[in-house]
This record gives sequence, C-alpha cells and structure tokens, in this order.
Amino acid sequence: MPLRLSIISLTLVLSGCALDGRQSFMDPRGEVAWLQYDLFMLTVYVTFGIFIAVGGTLLWTVWRYRERVDDDPNEHPPQSHGNPLVEFVLIAISIGLLVIIAIPTVSAIVYTHGMPDEPDSLLGSYYHGDMSDGAEEEVLTIYAYGWQWWFSFEYPQLGIVTGNELAIPKGKVVRFELRSKDVIHSFWVPKLAGKVDMIPGRNNWMWLRGDEAGYFFGQCAEYCGESHAYMQFRVEVMEDDDFAEWVEQQRQTPPPPQEESWQDFVVLAARAPEKLVDEPAVRGAALFYGRGACIQCHAIKGTPAAGLLGPDLTTVASRKSIAAGWMEHHNDDFTINPERQYENFYRWIRESEKIKPGNLMYHVSGGMRDINLSDQDCHDLAAFMMTLRPDSL
Ligand code: CUA
Repeated sequence: MPLRLSIISLTLVLSGCALDGRQSFMDPRGEVAWLQYDLFMLTVYVTFGIFIAVGGTLLWTVWRYRERVDDDPNEHPPQSHGNPLVEFVLIAISIGLLVIIAIPTVSAIVYTHGMPDEPDSLLGSYYHGDMSDGAEEEVLTIYAYGWQWWFSFEYPQLGIVTGNELAIPKGKVVRFELRSKDVIHSFWVPKLAGKVDMIPGRNNWMWLRGDEAGYFFGQCAEYCGESHAYMQFRVEVMEDDDFAEWVEQQRQTPPPPQEESWQDFVVLAARAPEKLVDEPAVRGAALFYGRGACIQCHAIKGTPAAGLLGPDLTTVASRKSIAAGWMEHHNDDFTINPERQYENFYRWIRESEKIKPGNLMYHVSGGMRDINLSDQDCHDLAAFMMTLRPDSL
C-alpha cells in the first residue's frame, strides 16, 4: 500500500514537471530566464556529480564489505582514519566545486541587478506616438502592482493601464517597478524571468527581455491568502509593429452606449432609464453606472467610472482571460473566442465567489453580495463588458 501511494503521489508531483509546460522555467524564452536556467543546470550537474560520487562510494563500500558466510563475527576488517592527504583532497574538491558554482552565480546577480547597456531598447526607437516628456530617451517601464488576488499594470510613459495581461516588444529590455497594494506577492514569468517579490512599502524592480514572440504565463509566487493559487497574469511578447498597434488600441476610450456623452448617458441611466435603448449592452451599462457598486472600484477611461480598487476595464474585452488569468477564453492560437468570453464575463459576475474564493469584488462592502443582481442583470453586464474593446479588434 505505501508503495502504491508513493507511486501515485510521485506521478501527481511529476505531472507538474512537463519540461515545456506553460509555467515551466525549463523552457526559457528570454535572456534573464536563460541566465537563470544555465545557472540552475550548472548547479544540477555539479550536485549530481557529488551525488554519484558519494552515493557510488557508499554503495561500493556496502557491497565490497558485506557480511559473508565464512566471516568471523569477532574480527573486523582493517580500519583507517585521519589520513591528511585524503582530507585535504576532499576539502580542496569541495572548495573547487563551490567556486565553480559561485563565480557564475555572483556574476549573474550583478548582471541582473543593473540595467543592461542596450541603446536600442529606448522607448523612442520603436514607438513614435504621443508620450510623456522625455520618454523617448527612457527604457520602457511598467509599474506592476500586486493586489489580493490580481495584478495591475501601468505604462506611465504611454498612458496605459491594464489588468492581468500586459504586452512588451520582442527583443527589448523592459523595466518593471514592482509594488504591492496589500500583502507580499511575487512577480514571476517562468519562461521570461523571475521571481521578484512585491513587498508593501518597498520599491523592488527587475528587468526582462522576451526574445521570442508569444503568450507567456505568469504567476504570483508568494503565498498571499485564500486565492493565491488563482493569482496569475499573462505577458504577450510582440513584434515591434504589433506592439505599436497594441499601444494604440489600449489608449482608446470606449464610445458611450447611446447618448452624446458619457455624462449624459449616466444621468439618463439614473433618472430616466426608460429612455434608454432596450439592448442588453445598454441595459448593462446603465446597471454598471447606475447602481454605483461597479464604479466604486473599476475605472473605464474617459467615462465617469474612476474606481481604483479593481482592474481597469477600459479595454477589458481585448484581454484573453479574466479573473487574473483563471478564466481563459482564447483559442489554441491565442485569438479570442467571443462565446467563451461572454460566458466567462457572465459567470464571473454571477458567481465570482465560487470561482475565486475570498475575492474582493464579491466580499467588499458594496460588492456583488449586496446588490442582488438578477440572472438577466448578469447577462446584461456581460454584454456591456463585451463592448469594452478597441475599435480595431
Ligand atoms: Cu499574490 Cu500569491
């Protein structure tokens, strides 16, 4: 029985070890991840050599000096101890092995703790739009904030705010400023770089470079409460042109659902909802702005929604997952599947507490628990969420 149990648990443990799994650090696609991978493998080779040498000696000794039938139990084999030559050699080998590991480790620490000197990573070299003053000469910087249990990302130079999904240009060094809004989290994109803690009251930072275009999975790597395991994020590494297009898309603001301006729409939603067009997305927008609960925490750029506690929803429908990566709605080629997206919005609004236990949208005062949304309301809100996407998508 214990054997069967060990085999089952070993299988379960190792099933998380697919070498090219989506959160496998053993499939590096960025410079920092490569550096860390090489360092890891060097350490594995050295320690494996020690394991073979020590284990082999032990096995050989056990076999060589095993008890035989004709042994006299009162007679011991020849003993030896205190051989200075053997001890000196063993100590020298240990020091040598430590040095072999220490030199690349220290140089990797020094290398990753400074910005690499790469002029082509400057912002102005690949993005020529409207940027804050002097930003052309700066390295692309992203402020990443950890919250229970999701990530917000700000591009201060580009005026973009997004949640749980971010994009970076391929082959360019990107600087991350890592902050926490509540408890300690940790920022980790196994295939690109990691991990660096996000600590309240402390300004950590790191840089990374994605060397291959693709969609990469990130994860909070520091236990931070009930839904820690569900705290994921995504990094999309894009070719320069795609990145410039993404930047343009994310800077857009959604048009009002029916009236001339968002202000007019919100006034109408609150005072004369019967005058609104009877469409799911418009009814959803009226609920979103009219009930007050949503806009306490969520922002939609260019509209009266300016809450800061939840993810910015300006272009939420351009993301390929919601609920901090836990509800995915992309096809195998990472294009959005609209039916699944709608279903995810609906389910998340309807029963977020089942999907992500402890989530603040449900539990915080004024959240879902208190506003009694009907099933139809949840459908309408999902329809409104579906409209929050850039024109060109
Ligand atoms: Cu955030 Cu674990």
